[in-house]
Amino acid sequence: MATTEDYQSIFHWAETQKDGDIPSFKTRKNDPYTYQSGFGNTFESEAIPGTLPYGQSNPRKVRFGLYAEQMTATAFVAPRAHNKNAYLYRVRPAVAHQGFTDMPDNKDTESCFLPLNPKIHVSPTQLAWLPFELPKDTEKVDFIDGLKTLAGSGDPTLRDGIATHVYCANTSMNKRAFVNSDGDFLIVPQQGALDIQTEFGPLYVQPGEIVVIQRGQRFRIDLPDGPSRGYILEVWGSNFDLPELGPLGANGLANKRDFLTPMAAFEIIEEQWNVVYKLGGKFFQSVQQHSPFDVVAWHGNYVPYKYDLTKFVNVGSISVDHIDPSIFCVLTAPSRDPTAPLADFLIFSPRWDVASQTYRPPYYHRNSASELMGLIYGNYGGRSDSFQPGGVSFESGFVPHGVSYPEWKKASETAPPEMKISEGAIAIMFESCRAFTITDWAWNSEKKHEHDPTMWDDLVAPQLELLKKLQVEHKRKYVGTARKGLGSGECVV
Ligand SMILES: [Fe+2]
Repeated sequence: MATTEDYQSIFHWAETQKDGDIPSFKTRKNDPYTYQSGFGNTFESEAIPGTLPYGQSNPRKVRFGLYAEQMTATAFVAPRAHNKNAYLYRVRPAVAHQGFTDMPDNKDTESCFLPLNPKIHVSPTQLAWLPFELPKDTEKVDFIDGLKTLAGSGDPTLRDGIATHVYCANTSMNKRAFVNSDGDFLIVPQQGALDIQTEFGPLYVQPGEIVVIQRGQRFRIDLPDGPSRGYILEVWGSNFDLPELGPLGANGLANKRDFLTPMAAFEIIEEQWNVVYKLGGKFFQSVQQHSPFDVVAWHGNYVPYKYDLTKFVNVGSISVDHIDPSIFCVLTAPSRDPTAPLADFLIFSPRWDVASQTYRPPYYHRNSASELMGLIYGNYGGRSDSFQPGGVSFESGFVPHGVSYPEWKKASETAPPEMKISEGAIAIMFESCRAFTITDWAWNSEKKHEHDPTMWDDLVAPQLELLKKLQVEHKRKYVGTARKGLGSGECVV
């Protein structure tokens, strides 16, 4: 198990542990870093032992002349369970820079999804995109320059909304850091690993893993595998949390202990650095003569973290019928409506499908959520159009969808044995209660295509003649009953 591809063929992370015949390990073999485990903990880490102050956070003098700097991510008086902050002990505080300058607009990004913005579009039908092109060898595009926005809802200045992006990059960020002042990034690499330097320490994230970097946290991305592509879910006014487990109890889905947060690591590089800020969807930069990754020690619960999707504990029906897809939720970001999430991040990964007497493909459906899907690797059989790794499929709320007639017929007529499904594949979904609008970039992309509606046009009614006869009988009974003074609701064939 040495490469990213090795992990793409496993049914679950548990396979890598060889039934205890080898020493257990919690990260992939090619991950060069160590981490702390847990979700929502108060973590602490120090690169030089004896640096972190205890009993107080803001001493008159910090060891080695370090500066104490607090990041407060919530209202100061947010209830204790929601209150998020971190104390960083660093060579120089983040304010040590030479001022801000405007950057040219990245025309491929968008942040205002309100219909009053002429650069967004609304679609009543299903849309899909073939895999987006990686940059050509002749141009150098890093993670920041390679950001492209697909769709979203709301506006970051309102602290309420969501954006979905892809990134297509071929170059590491060189003496360049990024800070998203608008919201939190959930990054899903699809091709190529990301070696991410953060103020809290390094994270190595490969296809099959995800990373969350929260609002205001600075980071820099190296591309150790060369050209890289992936998906990003950005939320405004909310942070990602684990979904409630309800009747499942204390365990299952993404378990808390499988989330990994970095260990402190600092560098002193006294050269020019550019720090790029995204604020209100616009880009700014400040210049400083020292590395922003100079945090020697830190403590807090407002931290970046990563998660290996092969560790997800799938649950499902063990009798009949499908359970609603909320069982596939890895992380959720609440909205101001307590009954509907702002964003759910779902995965469809290898699992057993054992329900009896049950139609196996996704049932035909219309629902209130916007669904934007991506495919990290493998094949995903639930889509109704060509769907490839690196591509995207989208339905806005209440757009009807389901499989083609031949697939319906096959699934209805056969009684398949209990089987593994989604083997060697992980598909993802960004799902939201918000109505998405589509950006100019995505709307005009040559990769975009609409699902061909004729693929459902041949959905035949197999017992149409019988139903026609029953309809005649129904009408005769209905009319007769109505004439006797009964309400129509009492007349059922
Ligand atoms: Fe759907």
